Amino acid sequence: MAAPLTSKPLVSDFASSVSHVPSTYVRPISDRPKLSQVETSDDTIPLIDLQGLHGPNRVEIIRQIYHACSTYGFFQIKNHGVSETTVNKMLTVAREFFHQPESERMKHYSTDSTKTTRVSTSFNVSADKILNWRDYLRLHCFPIQDFINEWPENPVSFKEITAEYATSVRALVLRLLEAISESLGLERDHISNRLGTHAQHMAFNYYPPCPEPELTYGLPGHKDPTAITVLLQDQVSGLQVFKDDKWVSVYPIPNTFFVNIGDQMQVISNEKYKSVLHRAVVNTEKERLSIPTFYFPSTDAVIGPAQELINGQGSPAVYKSFPFVEYWDKFWDRSLATASCLDAFKASIT
Ligand code: OGA
Ligand code: NI
Repeated sequence: MAAPLTSKPLVSDFASSVSHVPSTYVRPISDRPKLSQVETSDDTIPLIDLQGLHGPNRVEIIRQIYHACSTYGFFQIKNHGVSETTVNKMLTVAREFFHQPESERMKHYSTDSTKTTRVSTSFNVSADKILNWRDYLRLHCFPIQDFINEWPENPVSFKEITAEYATSVRALVLRLLEAISESLGLERDHISNRLGTHAQHMAFNYYPPCPEPELTYGLPGHKDPTAITVLLQDQVSGLQVFKDDKWVSVYPIPNTFFVNIGDQMQVISNEKYKSVLHRAVVNTEKERLSIPTFYFPSTDAVIGPAQELINGQGSPAVYKSFPFVEYWDKFWDRSLATASCLDAFKASIT
């Protein structure tokens, strides 16, 4: 574990008073963002219009989803059904949360990754050897009534707005899971049925301005442990995806979500769809806020390749079936790493 030099655990509470990144945040030269080499082309990230998904455009949209998932592992969506008002209220109250005094944010501080509502910093401070320039609030949000009582009381509208946002995004995710099932040639409810009783978490990532963004990360390259992730970001760039051996910036588009395939979908699809490496970098000028919704199997679910996608010699099962909780424990037992936790669940390993 890397102990911060400053006595303040959250980056937000010391970032503006330092002109250099503390040494605990400095990456070795071989592992720096190399920002000048990042691809900036705008057309790399597919943008799918979900208008008419339940009408005349379904076949065409599902074809686009198949193409995006099989060749990229990620896509952006517009006309997704989560209202602009809901999205803007979510971004506003999340920003207000992080602008509260240190004492208010620290009420929720915990390094215990099993807590279902907590504020923390970096990724997993119990395991991170080098810290990341990021604070976060993480909470569970499905079923809402099981968790809402432990969510932050302040700002006063936080619970109501987060509940509305989480409910609306969940409805979107369920539609996406159906569409993704169909795009794989599976029954519409196949993926949903594989996820047990389902789980939904949200993170509120807050990246303060950083005096030396070339030396550190907001989040280093990683793949998400989810089935899928639906990311809302504010208007400040920072998200990058790894495509064709290069890092590519994902420029935020208003009212658009960035969706990526996670490790569980990689398993269920028997690697027809792969989870992709992505990372968040920071900048000297502006704070940045991103709000991923992580959609998971429930901990009692058993995850494995869909039988329909296993086909003897042609496409044998790449993974064995495993209780999701085994993957989950592995994921939180370590720091964020580019190497996938999934290697332990390959079919050839007995
Ligand atoms: C994450 C993530 C990207 C971002 O929280 O898993 O990849 O832009 N975030 O904050
Ligand atoms: Ni991620």
